[in-house]
Amino acid sequence: MKTTISHIKADIGSLPGHTTVYEPVVQEVQKYVSKHSEGLISDFHISHVGDDIQITMIHNHGIDYPEVHELAWNAFKAGTEVAKKAGLYGAGQDLLKDAFSGNIKGMGPGVAEMEITARKSEPFIVYMMDKTEPGAFNFPIYKMFADPFNTPGLVIDPNMHEGFRFEIWDVVEAKKIELSAPENMYDILAMIGSKGKYVIKRVYTKETHEKLPDENVAVITTDKLSLIAGEYVGKDDPAAVVRIQSGLPASGESLEAFSHPFLVSGWMRGSFNGPLMPVGMKYAKMTRFDGPPRVVALGFVLKEGKLAGPVDMFDDPAFDGARKTAVDVVDYLRRMGPFEPHRLPDSEMEYTTLPKVLASLSSRFEPIDVPKKAKKLASSTRDYD
Ligand code: F6R
Ligand code: MG
Ligand code: MG
Repeated sequence: MKTTISHIKADIGSLPGHTTVYEPVVQEVQKYVSKHSEGLISDFHISHVGDDIQITMIHNHGIDYPEVHELAWNAFKAGTEVAKKAGLYGAGQDLLKDAFSGNIKGMGPGVAEMEITARKSEPFIVYMMDKTEPGAFNFPIYKMFADPFNTPGLVIDPNMHEGFRFEIWDVVEAKKIELSAPENMYDILAMIGSKGKYVIKRVYTKETHEKLPDENVAVITTDKLSLIAGEYVGKDDPAAVVRIQSGLPASGESLEAFSHPFLVSGWMRGSFNGPLMPVGMKYAKMTRFDGPPRVVALGFVLKEGKLAGPVDMFDDPAFDGARKTAVDVVDYLRRMGPFEPHRLPDSEMEYTTLPKVLASLSSRFEPIDVPKKAKKLASSTRDYD
């Protein structure tokens, strides 16, 4: 029988400002899911990173199951009531619609779901990021499933040697493509380096995988909150579920992908590049410059619909070096203030509040008297510097 892992997350209010969740709200979400989940889901876990509450659910109804989505939606609604009473900042901010209408996608919360053939032991890791965007997973997911310098299993383990299939979404034009590694490695990289446009949505094993043929082994939330809402309502902080071990990246190969605090976009006002810092739950709150962007990792094992765990995977001095590098990079970047490339380029500021500021200045612009020849040069495509 197939099992479904559904991970759904939302920011429904924070304190003091986009920093962390409020414990009574988390408890209300927990209480709601416990009370209304009988017969629908077999187990769940509630966690959080920064200002986002995260619900991991196990069931056997497949992905996009309306009642499972509705359970999460209603739990977030119940939490929002508590958030509003406490006067939390941005109470209910990710619940963009008033009423649930069959599928939580496009309504604000982020969704990562996969239907799997659960193995005898089914270990997986839930990664949760705050103050960044879904494309922030491109780098580590590629490292885990396609880079032998990160994952020696791709070289050593015959079950991994054939590589994996990647489903990549163009989130701007709403279309997708499937490419395989190692065959299409350069094509994959040609896309996923543009992390605001191309986002790895899922990873599958190949048909030739001896233990787990043709299986979904990783899934990432790809909901573009800014595009849904039409204006900036917070970065669509992503989460991912990654299956591990036995012909898949080992637990440590999966975590290793975060040992380099690579740059992601988001951070303060969703407008800055900064390093992604791997942290344990005790540091899952956003402070300096509303960040820096962080990732936490919770390790579970699934058996007959029940979860054991989680283990707080980055709560380990082995990641102190990555954290130190991240803080050094923060010190370096912060000195640039509002300048690119610390601040995001114009094209990515479209959904922030900057265009409003620029619009207020537009009437004060005056034409510059440009000589004819220079005008022509400026409008021609130059192929030299
Ligand atoms: C980034 C984020 C925060 C806010 C910032 C300003 O994703 O949530 O950095 O953008 O704290 O928030 P407002 O505009 O709500 O005062
Ligand atoms: Mg927020
Ligand atoms: Mg957030």
